[in-house]
Amino acid sequence: MDYQNLLFEVKDSIAIVTINRPDKLNALNIQTMQELKTLFTELKDDENVKVVILTGAGGKAFVAGADISELNKLDILTGKEFAENGQAVFNTIENLEKPVIAAVNGFALGGGCELALACHIRLASEKAKFGQPEVNLAIIPGYGGTQRLARLINKGRAIEYILTGDMISAEEAYRIGLANKVYAADELMAKAFEMAEKIITKGPISVKMALKAALASAELSLAEGQKLEASLFGACCGSEDFKEGTSAFLEKRKPEFKNK
Ligand code: COA
Repeated sequence: MDYQNLLFEVKDSIAIVTINRPDKLNALNIQTMQELKTLFTELKDDENVKVVILTGAGGKAFVAGADISELNKLDILTGKEFAENGQAVFNTIENLEKPVIAAVNGFALGGGCELALACHIRLASEKAKFGQPEVNLAIIPGYGGTQRLARLINKGRAIEYILTGDMISAEEAYRIGLANKVYAADELMAKAFEMAEKIITKGPISVKMALKAALASAELSLAEGQKLEASLFGACCGSEDFKEGTSAFLEKRKPEFKNK
C-alpha cells in the first residue's frame, strides 16, 4: 500500500516506520492517523516483521502533536470522537504483539508524546523534547496521555507536566523513566537497530508473551496479573522453542528458535 505521510521499509525483520510531514514537524493529521492504523493493522500479521522502530522525518521532530489546524474545527461531539479515534489508533500500536521502539529524534509534544507513550520502549536523542502542552490550547491530552503518562512516570509528575505544559528535556525524561535511554542524535537509529536485533535473537513466543503480561500489569490486580503470568509462562513451556532454548543452554550452544 502507498502512504502519503508515512515511510515504511523492512530490513532484517525490522520495520522502520517514519512519520513524514517534516514541514509540519510531523504533526498527526487525520490522514496520518488513518495511515498509522492501516499500517499497524497489517504489521500485526506480517510474518516478515518481528520488531518495529517508529521515528519522525526531518531531524527536528519526532511528532509535534496532533495537527492544530484540524483541532481548531472540533466541537463538543466531534472532539470526543476525535479523541476516541486517536486512542483506538494508539491502542492498535500498543497491542501489536511485537515490540515497538520509539526513536524519539526531536519534539515529541502532545499527540507525539502520547504516540511515544503507546510504544513499548522509548529511546531518545539528546535533542528530544517531550511534553503535553495541550493546556496552552485549552484542551487536555486526548490520545491516552493522561492515562499512560501517569502510569509510566509517577502520578504527581504526570499531573505537573500536563498542567504546566512544560517541555521535558531528554536528560529529564531519562531521569524520570519516560525515556529508556538517551543517545547522541547521530547514534539514535543505530542504537534502536541494535536493540531490535538483540530482541530478535530471543525466543519469539516468549517475547510476545512477556509483552502481553507486562502490558496487562496496568489493568490487572496483582493476583489477576500473576494468574495471567502463570498461564503465559505455561504456554511458553509448551513450545518447541522452550525445549530448544533450555537444551541449547545445557549443551553449551546457541539456540535456533523457530517460533513454534
Ligand atoms: N500542528 C500543526 N502544525 C504544526 C504543529 C502542530 N501540532 N507543530 C508545528 N506545526 C507547523 C507550524 O505551524 C509551522 O508550519 P508553517 O511553516 O506552515 O507555519 C511548522 O510546523 C514549523 O513549526 P514552527 O512553529 O515554525 O517551528 P519552531 O521551531 O518555531 O517551533 C514547536 C517548534 C514544536 C515549539 C512549535 O511548532 C509548537 O509549539 N508546535 C505545537 C506543539 C503543540 O502544541 N502540540 C500539541 C498539539 S495538541
